[in-house]
Amino acid sequence: MEMLHYLLFTFITTLLLHQNINNVDAARHHHHISKKQKSKTAPAPEDNSVSPSPGYPPPVPSDPSYAPDPTLPEEPENNSTTSCIFDVTDFGAVGDGDTDDTAAFRSAWKAACLVENGVVLAPSDLVFVITSTIFSGPCQPGLVFQVDGVLMPPDGPECWPKSDSSKQWLVFYRLDGMTFNGTGTIEGNGQKWWDLPCKPHKGPNGSTLPGPCDSPAMIRFFMSSNLVVTGLRIQNSPQFHMKFDGCEGVLINKLSISSPKLSPNTDGIHIENTRNVGIYNSVIHNGDDCISIGTGCSDVDIEAVTCGPSHGISIGSLGPHNSHACVSNITVRNAIIRDSDNGLRIKTWQGGTGSVAGIYFENIQMENVRNCVIIDQYYCLTKACRNETSAVYLTDVTFRNIKGTYDVRSPPIHFACSDTVACTNITMSEVELLPYEGVLVDDPFCWNAYGVQETLTIPPIDCLQEGMPETIAENPLYGC
Ligand SMILES: *[C@@H]1O[C@H](CO)[C@@H](O)[C@H](O)[C@H]1NC(C)=O
Ligand SMILES: *[C@@H]1O[C@H](CO)[C@@H](O)[C@H](O)[C@H]1NC(C)=O
Ligand SMILES: *[C@@H]1O[C@H](CO)[C@@H](O)[C@H](O)[C@H]1NC(C)=O
Ligand SMILES: *[C@@H]1O[C@H](CO)[C@@H](O)[C@H](O)[C@H]1NC(C)=O
Ligand SMILES: *[C@@H]1O[C@H](CO)[C@@H](O)[C@H](O)[C@H]1NC(C)=O
Ligand SMILES: *[C@@H]1O[C@H](CO)[C@@H](O)[C@H](O)[C@H]1NC(C)=O
Ligand SMILES: *[C@@H]1O[C@H](CO)[C@@H](O)[C@H](O)[C@H]1NC(C)=O
Repeated sequence: MEMLHYLLFTFITTLLLHQNINNVDAARHHHHISKKQKSKTAPAPEDNSVSPSPGYPPPVPSDPSYAPDPTLPEEPENNSTTSCIFDVTDFGAVGDGDTDDTAAFRSAWKAACLVENGVVLAPSDLVFVITSTIFSGPCQPGLVFQVDGVLMPPDGPECWPKSDSSKQWLVFYRLDGMTFNGTGTIEGNGQKWWDLPCKPHKGPNGSTLPGPCDSPAMIRFFMSSNLVVTGLRIQNSPQFHMKFDGCEGVLINKLSISSPKLSPNTDGIHIENTRNVGIYNSVIHNGDDCISIGTGCSDVDIEAVTCGPSHGISIGSLGPHNSHACVSNITVRNAIIRDSDNGLRIKTWQGGTGSVAGIYFENIQMENVRNCVIIDQYYCLTKACRNETSAVYLTDVTFRNIKGTYDVRSPPIHFACSDTVACTNITMSEVELLPYEGVLVDDPFCWNAYGVQETLTIPPIDCLQEGMPETIAENPLYGC
């Protein structure tokens, strides 16, 4: 199983890499063409014969296309701190909120990438528009991408260049030790994407039309390590605001992420296949999960985060299509969740394998939250999923000092563990939840869960059984 999982992961990674390489190539190609033609809107031709398709591995800075462009300003010296700044306006960026500044950002990135402690600077008081771009490494250590002004993508699907991926906008790829910071704003211009008729209830008369509905994630970090993201305001993303995939060592601090309550799929911070993550001192309000944690994540520490409106902090969904999922050592502390559809949620599909283990929720204040504490092992988007004999195994999950108020439309505690694979070692301590308004819901749903109540919960639950079920013991399906 371990091997299979590894192979599957390798396969998917390779697929993603190829997707990215092609994008990098298209992007670079576009850059060359528009430079030659001095035309900002020329779409990148699809014709691969002009620009040979690169193989694997992806290009590194020794690639000739990364060589300093003779038309660029003179290479600054890198022996003092000021000399490391690559201001995009020195590379031709206009920052009038209309001109396409993509080429200038790419040139500044290439130059900064080549020196130690290079800073790509988007200065304050200017509004830069760039199209979907992959900022790739490897680069010299200490690279900083600092946005003090406003950085935004083209306004909506109609303005999105047809040759660009409509699944991502800013992509940081193959970087080690990079900082993304500044006093500015990353503005996603999401409204026209949220209003597409394929989005929930946005079709004629509130219908939802079928059809491809891709919308770009705003900021994506892929296959990178030792990343720091601080200070920025990130708002109105067409889809996920930030996504980390295949990363190791991520520090997020003092971010403000915001989108309207009814903006679809605008998760705040999503991580998957990513280890060693700290998310601190941030405020997130949006239309989907505040923070979502996918498969392959471990050693994640979340503290002093305020969510809401949102869909809460979520682990999952895990194990779709009988897949193997592993999540471990996740701590969420000193958080506030308000006006949200869920509070603390773990969701898995029927038929998965693997486990969720070592999850610790402590000191969480709830205000008017539906499903404050929810484990759902019957997660299903179509309402037509069959019950299966395997599930992602949940164990060692602690809820400690979870207090506040719930929205009475849903029970505040809901443990729906798999029929065949019980949840084990759930610890409840000082879980006290009262109605925000209306009548107390005193029948929390609780099914097939083992664990202890160190103090009785409010409202009380009656299903936590002591000890361990016999069927779980050392089943290799649940190994990670
Ligand atoms: C930086 O380099 C320049 C020339 O390469 C030299 O004149 C200058 O003194 C150096 N500055 C520092 C602070 O080392
Ligand atoms: C600039 O940085 C490069 C790469 O880190 C280094 O090799 C070079 O010696 C540095 N130059 C100066 C003048 O500090
Ligand atoms: C961004 O990070 C760099 C490197 O840590 C730091 O020197 C700079 O002061 C930071 N800028 C802001 C605005 O936080
Ligand atoms: C929307 O609903 C109105 C009133 O029910 C109806 O007259 C109209 O034809 C509907 N439009 C579409 C596109 O279904
Ligand atoms: C759990 O994760 C934290 C970081 O969030 C790390 O410091 C700690 O060592 C991890 N614990 C184990 C047992 O791996
Ligand atoms: C699956 O199992 C759950 C728990 O036993 C039960 O409530 C539900 O009705 C079952 N669903 C189907 C489709 O059999
Ligand atoms: C139950 O979970 C707690 C907290 O995660 C852990 O400290 C303890 O060792 C677990 N107990 C067993 C029997 O696994």
